[in-house]
Amino acid sequence: MRVLFVASELFPYVKTGGLGDVMAALPRAMRVLGADVRLLLPAYPAVCDAVTLQGEVTALPDLMGGGPARILRAEAPGLPLYLLDQPAYFERPGGPYDQPEDLAHRFAALAWAGAYLGRSGDVAGWRPEVLHGHDWHTGLMPAYVAYGSGPRPATVMTIHNIAFQGRFSSALLNDLWLPSQALTPEGVEFHGDIGFLKAGLRLADRISTVSPTYAREIQVAGGHGLEGLLAHRSGDLHGILNGVDRTVWNPARDPHILSRYDLRHPGRRAPNRPDFQRRMGLQEDAEAPLFAAISRLDPLKGLDLVLDNVDHLVRQGGQLAVLGTGDPHAEGAFRQAAQRHPGRVAVFIGYDEILAHRAFAAADVILVPSRQEPCGLTQLYAQAYGALPLVRRTGGLADTVVGATPATLAADTATGFQFDWANGLALGEAINDALALFRDPATWRQVQRRGMATEFGWEGPARAYLELYATIPPKGD
Ligand code: ADP
Ligand code: GLC
Repeated sequence: MRVLFVASELFPYVKTGGLGDVMAALPRAMRVLGADVRLLLPAYPAVCDAVTLQGEVTALPDLMGGGPARILRAEAPGLPLYLLDQPAYFERPGGPYDQPEDLAHRFAALAWAGAYLGRSGDVAGWRPEVLHGHDWHTGLMPAYVAYGSGPRPATVMTIHNIAFQGRFSSALLNDLWLPSQALTPEGVEFHGDIGFLKAGLRLADRISTVSPTYAREIQVAGGHGLEGLLAHRSGDLHGILNGVDRTVWNPARDPHILSRYDLRHPGRRAPNRPDFQRRMGLQEDAEAPLFAAISRLDPLKGLDLVLDNVDHLVRQGGQLAVLGTGDPHAEGAFRQAAQRHPGRVAVFIGYDEILAHRAFAAADVILVPSRQEPCGLTQLYAQAYGALPLVRRTGGLADTVVGATPATLAADTATGFQFDWANGLALGEAINDALALFRDPATWRQVQRRGMATEFGWEGPARAYLELYATIPPKGD
Protein backbone atom coordinates (compact mmCIF):
# COMPACT_ATOMS: atom_id res chain seq x y z
CA MET A 1 0.00 0.00 0.00
CA ARG A 2 1.46 3.34 -1.08
CA VAL A 3 0.38 6.27 1.10
CA LEU A 4 1.33 9.94 1.05
CA PHE A 5 0.82 11.84 4.29
CA VAL A 6 0.66 15.61 3.92
CA ALA A 7 1.14 17.82 6.96
CA SER A 8 2.73 21.02 8.18
CA GLU A 9 4.71 19.70 11.16
CA LEU A 10 7.28 16.99 11.83
CA PHE A 11 9.06 16.47 15.15
CA PRO A 12 11.91 17.22 15.88
CA TYR A 13 12.21 19.82 13.10
CA VAL A 14 8.89 21.71 13.21
CA LYS A 15 6.50 21.24 16.08
CA THR A 16 3.92 23.49 17.68
CA GLY A 17 1.98 20.67 19.35
CA GLY A 18 0.91 17.07 19.11
CA LEU A 19 0.61 17.10 15.30
CA GLY A 20 4.41 17.18 15.01
CA ASP A 21 4.75 14.19 17.34
CA VAL A 22 2.12 12.20 15.46
CA MET A 23 3.71 12.88 12.06
CA ALA A 24 7.03 11.58 13.39
CA ALA A 25 5.59 8.38 14.82
CA LEU A 26 2.55 7.23 12.84
CA PRO A 27 4.03 6.96 9.32
CA ARG A 28 7.04 5.11 10.70
CA ALA A 29 4.76 2.71 12.60
CA MET A 30 2.82 2.09 9.38
CA ARG A 31 6.06 1.44 7.51
CA VAL A 32 6.98 -1.19 10.09
CA LEU A 33 3.73 -2.92 9.13
CA GLY A 34 4.88 -2.99 5.51
CA ALA A 35 3.04 0.02 4.07
CA ASP A 36 5.07 2.42 1.92
CA VAL A 37 4.13 5.62 3.73
CA ARG A 38 5.87 8.87 2.84
CA LEU A 39 5.33 12.41 4.06
CA LEU A 40 5.08 15.70 2.18
CA LEU A 41 5.71 18.85 4.16
CA PRO A 42 6.96 22.38 3.49
CA ALA A 43 10.73 22.68 3.05
CA TYR A 44 11.16 24.71 6.22
CA PRO A 45 14.84 25.60 6.76
CA ALA A 46 14.93 23.51 9.97
CA VAL A 47 13.85 20.48 7.94
CA CYS A 48 16.25 21.06 5.03
CA ASP A 49 19.18 21.53 7.40
CA ALA A 50 18.55 18.17 9.03
CA VAL A 51 17.47 15.76 6.30
CA THR A 52 19.22 14.37 3.23
CA LEU A 53 18.01 15.96 0.00
CA GLN A 54 17.76 13.56 -2.91
CA GLY A 55 16.80 15.55 -5.97
CA GLU A 56 13.91 17.23 -7.66
CA VAL A 57 10.51 15.80 -8.52
CA THR A 58 9.18 18.84 -10.32
CA ALA A 59 9.70 22.57 -10.66
CA LEU A 60 7.00 25.18 -11.22
CA PRO A 61 7.52 28.81 -12.25
CA ASP A 62 4.79 29.80 -9.82
CA LEU A 63 2.60 28.12 -7.24
CA MET A 64 -0.35 29.96 -5.69
CA GLY A 65 1.19 33.37 -6.38
CA GLY A 66 4.25 32.67 -4.23
CA GLY A 67 6.71 32.44 -7.13
CA PRO A 68 8.95 29.55 -8.09
CA ALA A 69 8.38 26.28 -6.29
CA ARG A 70 9.92 22.83 -6.40
CA ILE A 71 8.95 19.49 -4.97
CA LEU A 72 12.06 17.71 -3.68
CA ARG A 73 12.67 14.13 -2.56
CA ALA A 74 14.40 13.77 0.77
CA GLU A 75 14.99 11.26 3.51
CA ALA A 76 14.60 11.60 7.26
CA PRO A 77 15.75 8.64 9.36
CA GLY A 78 13.31 5.84 8.54
CA LEU A 79 10.91 8.13 6.69
CA PRO A 80 10.96 9.10 3.00
CA LEU A 81 9.95 12.72 2.52
CA TYR A 82 8.81 15.09 -0.16
CA LEU A 83 9.46 18.75 0.52
CA LEU A 84 7.62 21.68 -0.98
CA ASP A 85 10.43 24.14 -1.54
CA GLN A 86 8.97 27.58 -2.06
CA PRO A 87 11.19 30.21 -0.45
CA ALA A 88 8.65 33.04 -0.58
CA TYR A 89 6.22 31.04 1.55
CA PHE A 90 8.27 28.72 3.71
CA GLU A 91 11.69 30.28 4.30
CA ARG A 92 10.91 32.90 6.87
CA PRO A 93 11.36 33.50 10.56
CA GLY A 94 8.62 32.65 13.06
CA GLY A 95 6.30 29.71 13.51
CA PRO A 96 4.55 27.88 10.68
CA TYR A 97 1.22 29.62 11.28
CA ASP A 98 2.54 33.17 11.76
CA GLN A 99 2.14 35.88 9.13
CA PRO A 100 -1.55 35.62 8.31
CA GLU A 101 -1.42 37.70 5.12
CA ASP A 102 -0.67 34.71 2.89
CA LEU A 103 -1.68 31.84 5.18
CA ALA A 104 -4.37 30.67 2.75
CA HIS A 105 -1.99 30.76 -0.22
CA ARG A 106 0.79 28.94 1.64
CA PHE A 107 -1.32 26.01 2.70
CA ALA A 108 -3.25 25.91 -0.56
CA ALA A 109 0.18 25.50 -2.16
CA LEU A 110 0.96 22.58 0.16
CA ALA A 111 -2.41 20.94 -0.56
CA TRP A 112 -1.95 21.45 -4.30
CA ALA A 113 1.52 19.87 -4.15
CA GLY A 114 -0.02 16.86 -2.38
CA ALA A 115 -2.68 16.53 -5.07
CA TYR A 116 0.01 16.87 -7.76
CA LEU A 117 1.98 13.95 -6.30
CA GLY A 118 -1.26 12.01 -5.95
CA ARG A 119 -2.07 12.41 -9.62
CA SER A 120 1.34 12.50 -11.29
CA GLY A 121 3.61 10.67 -8.87
CA ASP A 122 7.34 11.32 -8.69
CA VAL A 123 10.13 10.91 -11.24
CA ALA A 124 10.80 7.35 -10.10
CA GLY A 125 7.20 6.40 -10.89
CA TRP A 126 6.03 6.27 -7.29
CA ARG A 127 2.42 7.32 -7.01
CA PRO A 128 0.36 7.02 -3.81
CA GLU A 129 -2.85 5.01 -3.75
CA VAL A 130 -3.97 7.03 -0.72
CA LEU A 131 -3.49 10.75 -0.11
CA HIS A 132 -3.87 11.40 3.59
CA GLY A 133 -4.08 15.02 4.75
CA HIS A 134 -3.84 16.23 8.33
CA ASP A 135 -5.74 19.25 9.66
CA TRP A 136 -7.01 22.32 7.85
CA HIS A 137 -3.61 23.03 6.29
CA THR A 138 -4.26 20.19 3.86
CA GLY A 139 -8.06 20.52 3.65
CA LEU A 140 -8.04 21.70 0.04
CA MET A 141 -6.15 18.62 -1.13
CA PRO A 142 -9.28 16.49 -1.73
CA ALA A 143 -10.72 19.48 -3.62
CA TYR A 144 -7.71 19.73 -5.95
CA VAL A 145 -8.04 15.99 -6.51
CA ALA A 146 -11.79 16.17 -7.12
CA TYR A 147 -11.64 19.12 -9.56
CA GLY A 148 -8.43 18.07 -11.27
CA SER A 149 -7.83 15.57 -14.01
CA GLY A 150 -5.67 12.47 -14.16
CA PRO A 151 -5.61 9.42 -11.94
CA ARG A 152 -7.56 9.92 -8.77
CA PRO A 153 -6.05 8.53 -5.57
CA ALA A 154 -8.22 7.77 -2.56
CA THR A 155 -8.32 10.66 -0.09
CA VAL A 156 -8.43 10.65 3.69
CA MET A 157 -8.67 13.65 6.00
CA THR A 158 -7.68 13.51 9.66
CA ILE A 159 -8.92 16.09 12.12
CA HIS A 160 -6.38 16.77 14.85
CA ASN A 161 -8.25 19.84 16.03
CA ILE A 162 -11.55 21.02 14.58
CA ALA A 163 -11.23 24.40 16.32
CA PHE A 164 -8.78 25.42 13.60
CA GLN A 165 -10.52 25.36 10.24
CA GLY A 166 -8.78 27.70 7.82
CA ARG A 167 -11.65 29.91 6.73
CA PHE A 168 -10.90 32.57 4.14
CA SER A 169 -12.73 35.00 1.86
CA SER A 170 -14.36 33.51 -1.22
CA ALA A 171 -12.72 36.35 -3.17
CA LEU A 172 -9.57 34.19 -3.05
CA LEU A 173 -11.13 31.42 -5.16
CA ASN A 174 -9.09 32.11 -8.32
CA ASP A 175 -5.94 32.94 -6.38
CA LEU A 176 -6.18 29.50 -4.80
CA TRP A 177 -6.48 27.80 -8.21
CA LEU A 178 -9.99 26.59 -7.51
CA PRO A 179 -12.62 26.49 -10.28
CA SER A 180 -15.76 28.58 -9.83
CA GLN A 181 -17.91 25.43 -9.56
CA ALA A 182 -16.04 24.59 -6.34
CA LEU A 183 -17.79 27.39 -4.47
CA THR A 184 -20.88 25.42 -3.46
CA PRO A 185 -21.95 23.68 -0.25
CA GLU A 186 -20.98 20.38 -1.92
CA GLY A 187 -17.49 21.80 -2.46
CA VAL A 188 -15.31 24.28 -0.62
CA GLU A 189 -17.95 26.87 0.31
CA PHE A 190 -18.62 27.41 4.02
CA HIS A 191 -21.09 30.15 5.02
CA GLY A 192 -20.10 32.22 2.01
CA ASP A 193 -16.37 31.77 2.62
CA ILE A 194 -13.86 29.14 1.56
CA GLY A 195 -13.47 26.58 4.33
CA PHE A 196 -10.27 24.57 3.98
CA LEU A 197 -11.11 21.93 6.58
CA LYS A 198 -14.73 21.95 5.50
CA ALA A 199 -13.67 21.19 1.93
CA GLY A 200 -11.59 18.25 3.08
CA LEU A 201 -14.36 16.87 5.25
CA ARG A 202 -16.89 17.21 2.45
CA LEU A 203 -14.76 15.75 -0.33
CA ALA A 204 -12.41 13.18 1.21
CA ASP A 205 -13.37 9.52 0.86
CA ARG A 206 -12.85 8.89 4.57
CA ILE A 207 -12.47 11.07 7.64
CA SER A 208 -10.75 10.26 10.87
CA THR A 209 -10.07 12.01 14.10
CA VAL A 210 -7.79 11.18 16.98
CA SER A 211 -10.13 9.57 19.52
CA PRO A 212 -13.47 7.77 19.49
CA THR A 213 -15.03 10.16 22.02
CA TYR A 214 -14.00 13.25 20.02
CA ALA A 215 -15.42 11.59 16.90
CA ARG A 216 -18.80 11.50 18.66
CA GLU A 217 -18.51 14.96 20.25
CA ILE A 218 -17.84 16.79 16.99
CA GLN A 219 -21.04 15.41 15.47
CA VAL A 220 -23.32 16.78 18.16
CA ALA A 221 -21.68 19.83 19.75
CA GLY A 222 -18.09 20.86 19.78
CA GLY A 223 -17.84 20.57 16.02
CA HIS A 224 -17.31 24.35 15.73
CA GLY A 225 -20.06 24.64 13.11
CA LEU A 226 -19.23 21.41 11.27
CA GLU A 227 -21.52 19.14 13.34
CA GLY A 228 -24.12 18.79 10.58
CA LEU A 229 -21.63 17.84 7.90
CA LEU A 230 -19.91 15.35 10.20
CA ALA A 231 -23.19 13.79 11.33
CA HIS A 232 -24.10 13.46 7.65
CA ARG A 233 -20.80 11.66 7.03
CA SER A 234 -20.98 9.67 10.23
CA GLY A 235 -20.51 6.35 8.42
CA ASP A 236 -17.20 7.56 6.98
CA LEU A 237 -15.88 9.09 10.21
CA HIS A 238 -13.62 7.06 12.48
CA GLY A 239 -11.92 7.79 15.80
CA ILE A 240 -8.41 6.32 16.09
CA LEU A 241 -6.38 7.08 19.21
CA ASN A 242 -2.85 8.42 19.09
CA GLY A 243 -0.02 6.52 20.74
CA VAL A 244 3.28 7.18 22.48
CA ASP A 245 6.55 7.09 20.56
CA ARG A 246 8.72 5.04 22.91
CA THR A 247 11.89 6.02 21.08
CA VAL A 248 11.28 9.58 22.34
CA TRP A 249 9.16 9.15 25.47
CA ASN A 250 10.67 6.41 27.58
CA PRO A 251 11.97 7.10 31.11
CA ALA A 252 14.27 4.07 30.89
CA ARG A 253 16.22 5.60 28.00
CA ASP A 254 15.48 9.32 28.17
CA PRO A 255 18.74 11.27 27.66
CA HIS A 256 17.15 14.47 28.96
CA ILE A 257 16.41 13.38 32.53
CA LEU A 258 18.85 13.16 35.43
CA SER A 259 17.92 9.67 36.60
CA ARG A 260 16.45 6.99 34.32
CA TYR A 261 13.92 4.54 35.69
CA ASP A 262 11.33 1.97 34.73
CA LEU A 263 8.58 -0.15 36.20
CA ARG A 264 11.08 -2.40 37.92
CA HIS A 265 13.06 0.50 39.38
CA PRO A 266 10.47 3.17 40.20
CA GLY A 267 12.60 4.41 43.09
CA ARG A 268 15.12 5.78 40.58
CA ARG A 269 12.53 8.37 39.60
CA ALA A 270 13.06 10.30 42.85
CA PRO A 271 16.25 12.28 41.96
CA ASN A 272 14.46 13.90 39.03
CA ARG A 273 12.23 15.88 41.35
CA PRO A 274 14.84 18.07 43.16
CA ASP A 275 16.63 18.53 39.84
CA PHE A 276 13.49 19.86 38.20
CA GLN A 277 12.51 21.92 41.25
CA ARG A 278 15.94 23.58 41.21
CA ARG A 279 15.76 24.32 37.50
CA MET A 280 12.31 25.86 37.88
CA GLY A 281 13.15 27.86 41.01
CA LEU A 282 10.83 25.83 43.23
CA GLN A 283 11.78 24.92 46.80
CA GLU A 284 13.41 21.51 46.94
CA ASP A 285 10.58 20.17 49.02
CA ALA A 286 10.58 16.37 48.92
CA GLU A 287 7.14 16.07 50.51
CA ALA A 288 5.04 18.55 48.53
CA PRO A 289 2.76 17.07 45.89
CA LEU A 290 4.11 18.56 42.67
CA PHE A 291 1.52 19.47 40.03
CA ALA A 292 2.57 20.45 36.50
CA ALA A 293 0.93 21.62 33.30
CA ILE A 294 2.71 21.42 29.92
CA SER A 295 0.50 23.03 27.37
CA ARG A 296 -0.24 25.57 24.72
CA LEU A 297 -1.97 28.41 26.56
CA ASP A 298 -5.15 28.34 24.52
CA PRO A 299 -8.65 28.84 25.97
CA LEU A 300 -9.63 25.31 24.91
CA LYS A 301 -6.86 23.88 27.10
CA GLY A 302 -8.73 25.16 30.20
CA LEU A 303 -5.66 26.50 32.02
CA ASP A 304 -7.86 29.26 33.44
CA LEU A 305 -9.32 26.53 35.69
CA VAL A 306 -5.79 25.97 36.99
CA LEU A 307 -5.43 29.71 37.62
CA ASP A 308 -8.62 29.55 39.69
CA ASN A 309 -6.99 26.88 41.84
CA VAL A 310 -3.45 28.20 42.34
CA ASP A 311 -4.05 29.63 45.80
CA HIS A 312 -6.01 26.56 46.90
CA LEU A 313 -3.28 24.24 45.72
CA VAL A 314 -0.56 26.18 47.52
CA ARG A 315 -2.63 26.40 50.73
CA GLN A 316 -2.89 22.60 50.64
CA GLY A 317 0.89 22.34 50.57
CA GLY A 318 1.22 21.67 46.84
CA GLN A 319 3.63 23.07 44.29
CA LEU A 320 2.78 24.03 40.72
CA ALA A 321 5.01 24.22 37.64
CA VAL A 322 3.62 25.52 34.36
CA LEU A 323 5.38 25.23 31.00
CA GLY A 324 3.41 27.03 28.38
CA THR A 325 3.13 29.72 25.80
CA GLY A 326 0.31 31.28 23.84
CA ASP A 327 -2.42 33.60 25.07
CA PRO A 328 -0.62 36.68 26.52
CA HIS A 329 -3.33 37.17 29.13
CA ALA A 330 -2.82 33.64 30.50
CA GLU A 331 0.96 34.07 30.35
CA GLY A 332 0.67 37.22 32.47
CA ALA A 333 -1.71 35.61 34.95
CA PHE A 334 0.63 32.67 35.50
CA ARG A 335 3.59 35.02 35.93
CA GLN A 336 1.64 36.90 38.60
CA ALA A 337 0.74 33.64 40.34
CA ALA A 338 4.44 32.73 40.48
CA GLN A 339 5.26 36.14 41.97
CA ARG A 340 2.53 35.68 44.58
CA HIS A 341 3.88 32.28 45.62
CA PRO A 342 7.67 32.31 45.21
CA GLY A 343 9.19 28.87 45.55
CA ARG A 344 5.76 27.21 45.39
CA VAL A 345 4.58 28.21 41.91
CA ALA A 346 6.97 28.48 38.97
CA VAL A 347 6.27 29.32 35.37
CA PHE A 348 8.30 28.87 32.23
CA ILE A 349 6.80 30.91 29.43
CA GLY A 350 8.07 29.40 26.21
CA TYR A 351 8.53 26.11 24.50
CA ASP A 352 11.25 23.79 25.76
CA GLU A 353 11.19 20.15 24.74
CA ILE A 354 13.89 19.06 27.21
CA LEU A 355 12.29 20.82 30.14
CA ALA A 356 9.03 19.06 29.26
CA HIS A 357 10.76 15.66 29.56
CA ARG A 358 12.11 16.71 32.96
CA ALA A 359 8.67 17.84 34.09
CA PHE A 360 7.06 14.50 33.21
CA ALA A 361 9.83 12.68 35.10
CA ALA A 362 9.47 14.86 38.20
CA ALA A 363 5.81 15.77 38.65
CA ASP A 364 3.35 13.81 40.74
CA VAL A 365 0.33 15.07 38.80
CA ILE A 366 0.02 16.41 35.25
CA LEU A 367 -2.99 18.71 34.90
CA VAL A 368 -4.93 18.54 31.61
CA PRO A 369 -8.20 20.38 32.27
CA SER A 370 -9.09 20.88 28.59
CA ARG A 371 -12.50 22.14 27.53
CA GLN A 372 -12.01 20.11 24.39
CA GLU A 373 -9.20 17.67 23.62
CA PRO A 374 -9.21 15.73 20.36
CA CYS A 375 -6.73 13.21 21.77
CA GLY A 376 -4.07 14.84 23.90
CA LEU A 377 -0.59 13.44 24.27
CA THR A 378 0.56 14.90 27.58
CA GLN A 379 -1.73 12.61 29.60
CA LEU A 380 -0.15 9.65 27.77
CA TYR A 381 3.41 10.88 28.39
CA ALA A 382 2.46 11.45 32.04
CA GLN A 383 1.42 7.81 32.39
CA ALA A 384 4.57 6.55 30.69
CA TYR A 385 6.64 8.63 33.13
CA GLY A 386 4.79 7.72 36.32
CA ALA A 387 3.04 11.05 36.80
CA LEU A 388 -0.71 10.74 37.38
CA PRO A 389 -2.79 12.65 34.82
CA LEU A 390 -5.65 14.71 36.18
CA VAL A 391 -7.95 15.39 33.23
CA ARG A 392 -11.37 16.65 32.27
CA ARG A 393 -13.54 13.88 30.89
CA THR A 394 -13.61 14.98 27.25
CA GLY A 395 -12.34 13.71 23.89
CA GLY A 396 -9.24 11.58 24.05
CA LEU A 397 -8.76 12.37 27.74
CA ALA A 398 -11.94 10.40 28.46
CA ASP A 399 -10.63 7.50 26.37
CA THR A 400 -7.10 7.23 27.79
CA VAL A 401 -7.33 7.92 31.52
CA VAL A 402 -9.19 5.76 34.03
CA GLY A 403 -10.23 8.02 36.89
CA ALA A 404 -9.58 6.81 40.43
CA THR A 405 -12.81 5.75 42.16
CA PRO A 406 -13.32 3.15 44.88
CA ALA A 407 -14.33 0.70 42.14
CA THR A 408 -11.39 1.34 39.77
CA LEU A 409 -8.93 1.35 42.66
CA ALA A 410 -10.30 -1.98 43.88
CA ALA A 411 -10.07 -3.39 40.34
CA ASP A 412 -6.57 -1.91 39.90
CA THR A 413 -7.54 -0.17 36.67
CA ALA A 414 -7.19 3.47 37.83
CA THR A 415 -4.48 5.49 36.07
CA GLY A 416 -5.31 9.05 37.10
CA PHE A 417 -8.11 11.46 38.00
CA GLN A 418 -11.07 12.74 36.00
CA PHE A 419 -13.63 15.51 36.45
CA ASP A 420 -16.60 16.52 34.36
CA TRP A 421 -17.59 20.15 34.57
CA ALA A 422 -15.36 22.80 33.00
CA ASN A 423 -15.13 25.06 36.02
CA GLY A 424 -12.63 25.86 38.74
CA LEU A 425 -14.72 24.24 41.46
CA ALA A 426 -14.83 20.89 39.71
CA LEU A 427 -11.09 20.98 39.08
CA GLY A 428 -10.59 21.95 42.75
CA GLU A 429 -12.49 18.87 43.86
CA ALA A 430 -10.39 16.65 41.61
CA ILE A 431 -7.25 18.28 43.02
CA ASN A 432 -8.54 17.42 46.51
CA ASP A 433 -9.01 13.79 45.41
CA ALA A 434 -5.42 13.77 44.15
CA LEU A 435 -4.14 15.29 47.41
CA ALA A 436 -6.04 12.69 49.44
CA LEU A 437 -4.62 9.82 47.40
CA PHE A 438 -1.14 11.34 47.67
CA ARG A 439 -1.36 10.82 51.43
CA ASP A 440 -1.81 7.09 50.76
CA PRO A 441 1.56 6.21 49.18
CA ALA A 442 0.81 2.52 48.62
CA THR A 443 -2.33 3.22 46.60
CA TRP A 444 -0.61 6.09 44.80
CA ARG A 445 2.16 3.72 43.68
CA GLN A 446 -0.45 1.22 42.50
CA VAL A 447 -2.04 3.83 40.23
CA GLN A 448 1.39 4.97 39.06
CA ARG A 449 2.38 1.41 38.15
CA ARG A 450 -0.87 0.80 36.26
CA GLY A 451 -0.23 3.93 34.18
CA MET A 452 3.40 3.01 33.48
CA ALA A 453 2.31 -0.48 32.43
CA THR A 454 -0.25 0.85 29.93
CA GLU A 455 1.28 0.56 26.49
CA PHE A 456 -0.38 3.15 24.22
CA GLY A 457 1.80 1.82 21.40
CA TRP A 458 1.53 3.06 17.82
CA GLU A 459 1.16 -0.38 16.27
CA GLY A 460 -2.56 -0.66 16.99
CA PRO A 461 -3.39 2.79 15.61
CA ALA A 462 -1.14 2.17 12.57
CA ARG A 463 -3.11 -1.00 11.82
CA ALA A 464 -6.40 0.85 12.27
CA TYR A 465 -5.41 3.45 9.64
CA LEU A 466 -4.45 0.71 7.18
CA GLU A 467 -7.80 -0.99 7.81
CA LEU A 468 -9.54 2.32 7.22
CA TYR A 469 -7.83 2.70 3.82
CA ALA A 470 -8.91 -0.83 2.94
CA THR A 471 -12.59 0.19 3.24
CA ILE A 472 -12.24 2.66 0.33
CA PRO A 473 -13.40 1.14 -2.96
CA PRO A 474 -10.72 1.19 -5.68
CA LYS A 475 -10.70 4.30 -7.86
CA GLY A 476 -10.92 4.23 -11.60
CA ASP A 477 -8.29 6.50 -13.18
P1 ADP B 1 -1.84 20.01 21.32
O1 ADP B 1 -1.39 19.34 20.09
O2 ADP B 1 -3.27 20.40 21.29
O3 ADP B 1 -0.98 21.14 21.75
P2 ADP B 1 -1.08 17.50 22.63
O4 ADP B 1 -1.24 17.08 24.05
O5 ADP B 1 -1.52 16.57 21.58
O6 ADP B 1 -1.79 18.92 22.51
O7 ADP B 1 0.45 17.77 22.30
C1 ADP B 1 1.19 18.75 22.95
C2 ADP B 1 2.65 18.50 22.68
O8 ADP B 1 3.36 19.71 22.84
C3 ADP B 1 3.28 17.51 23.64
O9 ADP B 1 4.36 16.87 22.99
C4 ADP B 1 3.78 18.43 24.76
O10 ADP B 1 4.80 17.85 25.51
C5 ADP B 1 4.25 19.61 23.95
N1 ADP B 1 4.26 20.90 24.65
C6 ADP B 1 3.22 21.71 24.88
N2 ADP B 1 3.61 22.85 25.48
C7 ADP B 1 4.94 22.75 25.64
C8 ADP B 1 5.95 23.62 26.18
N3 ADP B 1 5.64 24.81 26.69
N4 ADP B 1 7.23 23.20 26.15
C9 ADP B 1 7.54 21.99 25.63
N5 ADP B 1 6.65 21.13 25.10
C10 ADP B 1 5.36 21.52 25.10
C1 GLC C 1 -4.13 18.41 18.16
C2 GLC C 1 -5.01 18.20 19.38
C3 GLC C 1 -4.47 17.18 20.34
C4 GLC C 1 -3.93 15.96 19.63
C5 GLC C 1 -2.92 16.39 18.58
C6 GLC C 1 -2.33 15.22 17.81
O1 GLC C 1 -3.18 19.39 18.31
O2 GLC C 1 -5.28 19.42 20.02
O3 GLC C 1 -5.50 16.78 21.23
O4 GLC C 1 -3.33 15.08 20.54
O5 GLC C 1 -3.52 17.24 17.66
O6 GLC C 1 -3.33 14.46 17.18
